[in-house]
Amino acid sequence: MMYSEKVLDHFSNPRNVGEIEDADGVGEIGNAKCGDIMKMYLKIDNGIITDAKFKTFGCGAAVATSSMATELIKGKSIDDALKLTNDAVVEALDGLPAVKIHCSVLAEQAVRSALSDYYTRQGIDPLPIVGEIKEPEEH
Ligand code: FES
Repeated sequence: MMYSEKVLDHFSNPRNVGEIEDADGVGEIGNAKCGDIMKMYLKIDNGIITDAKFKTFGCGAAVATSSMATELIKGKSIDDALKLTNDAVVEALDGLPAVKIHCSVLAEQAVRSALSDYYTRQGIDPLPIVGEIKEPEEH
């Protein structure tokens, strides 16, 4: 199995690890099969994601994809963040082995889960905007 240099870089030197204490949205998502858990914290100002941090208790690909996902959404609008697919995260990392693709779904869904929490805190029903949060099933 081969990992790209970008995956190895984001795994051994993950960006944006940690918590945001006064986060505007916090999301958590897990994969029941591998037991990996990802927590995502977002700071949102005027519809723009001004900061993003994560904690991942999981495999190397989960760490690398959450690191890349936070990099991709920082400074972007909520709309852009909602369009972030796991495929885009994988592409930004120059690919992932097929058996590790599900780990990138965890990163995508962690972002959506945090945005969902953000809307809930605003008193807005997140479902029509964010859609359902899916726990990645295949492994
Ligand atoms: Fe569980 Fe990668 S093996 S997220």
